[in-house]
Amino acid sequence: MNPDDDAGNSRSAVSRRGFLGGSVAAAAAPLLATAVHATPAEAAADNDLVTVRATINGRPVTTQVDPRATLLDTLREGLELCGTKKGCDRGQCGACTVHVDGRRVLSCLTLAATANGREVTTIEGLAQGDRLHPMQQAFIERDGFQCGFCTPGQIMSAVAMVDEGRASSDDEIRERMSGNICGCSAYPFIVDAIRDAQKVMR
Ligand code: FES
Ligand code: FES
Repeated sequence: MNPDDDAGNSRSAVSRRGFLGGSVAAAAAPLLATAVHATPAEAAADNDLVTVRATINGRPVTTQVDPRATLLDTLREGLELCGTKKGCDRGQCGACTVHVDGRRVLSCLTLAATANGREVTTIEGLAQGDRLHPMQQAFIERDGFQCGFCTPGQIMSAVAMVDEGRASSDDEIRERMSGNICGCSAYPFIVDAIRDAQKVMR
């Protein structure tokens, strides 16, 4: 093996790592700037943890959280329910939508401590065993997604909207779903899916 080649490979590996590291750091910067949660170690050092007892996807859960922790981070990092997505982390995209006591909330703007005594449903809790929720089924049948990143939030939002009886027309569906952004612009198919699911959910 030529030492120069090895060195060259090593240099290019460092270079690639440096480039990727820089890219990730740049992408993460806006999120870090706005995040209010702390790592568990920081939380233990700086704050008393609070106990949260909630029903999550039909199961009783007791967990200790930093009072500053969001419901989104607690679900994803503490409870490993990663179906709920972190998009903007600042209440602008709807990717983090879950249900609390049957109403849709943005989990990135909700403190986990406020879920104490409440019923939380995430995308993982919609299906009944192997049987998908009608909204999940309709999204599949109508191709209501492309990359799928926004889809859990879209579906959680759509289920709550239909349950509230607020999906009387395509215009109302578009209006009531306007807080859920789809970067892939699958909107026409999302509306089709919601219209279909609504007929089954009635
Ligand atoms: Fe919560 Fe975007 S991640 S609204
Ligand atoms: Fe890609 Fe909506 S399917 S962001």
